[in-house]
Amino acid sequence: MLKILTLIGARPQFIKAAAISRAIKKSFSDKIEEVIVHSGQHYDTNMSTVFFDELALPKPNYTFELQAQGHSGQTAEILQKLEIVLAKEKPNALLVYGDTNTTLAGALAASKNHISLIHIEAGLRSFNKTMPEEINRIMTDHCSSLLFCPTATAVENLQKEGIAHTNGNCTVDTPKVFACGDIMYDNSIYFSDYSKENILIENDLKKDAYLLFTMHRPSNTDEPKRLKNICKMLMRLADKHQKAIAFPMHPRTKKALLTHLSVEDLEAFVQHSFIKILEPASFTDMIALEKNCELVITDSGGVQKEAYFFEKPCLILRSETEWVEIVEQGAAIVIDANEEKLNSSFDLFQSKSLTFPNLFGDGWSAEFICKKIVEEI
Ligand code: UD1
Repeated sequence: MLKILTLIGARPQFIKAAAISRAIKKSFSDKIEEVIVHSGQHYDTNMSTVFFDELALPKPNYTFELQAQGHSGQTAEILQKLEIVLAKEKPNALLVYGDTNTTLAGALAASKNHISLIHIEAGLRSFNKTMPEEINRIMTDHCSSLLFCPTATAVENLQKEGIAHTNGNCTVDTPKVFACGDIMYDNSIYFSDYSKENILIENDLKKDAYLLFTMHRPSNTDEPKRLKNICKMLMRLADKHQKAIAFPMHPRTKKALLTHLSVEDLEAFVQHSFIKILEPASFTDMIALEKNCELVITDSGGVQKEAYFFEKPCLILRSETEWVEIVEQGAAIVIDANEEKLNSSFDLFQSKSLTFPNLFGDGWSAEFICKKIVEEI
């Protein structure tokens, strides 16, 4: 029996981990024992607990209560606390997801304690090192022995950095790299049937007649001028097209709006008749919002892909994306925070018919990953 220690801590990681935990329970329970550690990075009920309940994720075996504020403190504290758990549990491997501070802390702890590291969502690159996630993911990939890439581009990115599939034992110097599709796609398919439309009714959102907006990246929230500009351009877009904009708001964004906007600007935004501010949505509520909207505007990587899974055009509120396939396919446009691009891209999507060929696997990535873990670790 392999003992795998799964480290999660931020909202998207709960969602990703659900797919693997489900596959272990269904097909690998005699081969893999999973110990779950919650780093405590996200802690609010609607950023954490709701996902465990809704996605039927096993309760974590360990949950850290972080005292530190800020990225460095948070990463250091998770690293220290995790080391103690690794010494106690002595797992065969540590499994981490994505590119958050939790991921990086896990990668460093595994490396320093000579424990094999498995990285799911390996090889993604934005080529923008000012993004905290870019450093997190590069470091994590270079500490990993077993790397699972969601796309062919991700495999190529790793090759360019000298991380290629080898035939030896699975070690950090002779890693194994697999393209496995996207486990977020597994989940979107699986949970799509569970999504209910209550959230639309409660917020008076009409099917196919509202825009879905999410924003939480520091590059958008932490720069007051840019934040104000984004709020203004959204209000103008809503007014011009008489469209509601549903905005489930991340705690980071809430704090930033309260800090950076003047009282007048804040009031104009939150009381705008077309802007519908929602609490952070659960996964099935988010699926309902994505499935029924007309178009998505986001700076989230996960939401960009989910827009594609549910065949919605997407405007990316960043200067670049790791999910280049959806842009190449013409289903998403990088608009940065540029109002002209927002308007012209919006108009383009109104007039253009889009196609959404399958770019992210067959919905069985988690099963593939578990099979490879059993073979390689
Ligand atoms: C983190 C990840 C990001 C991911 C996002 C998903 C890093 C570097 N970034 O960003 O890649 O897309 O999670 O949400 O790891 N907060 C709360 N309650 C919570 C969680 C956070 O109030 O439950 C507050 C924090 O106190 C902090 C802010 O929100 O002030 C940001 O949280 P943090 O975990 O640092 O980063 P995210 O912006 O969520």
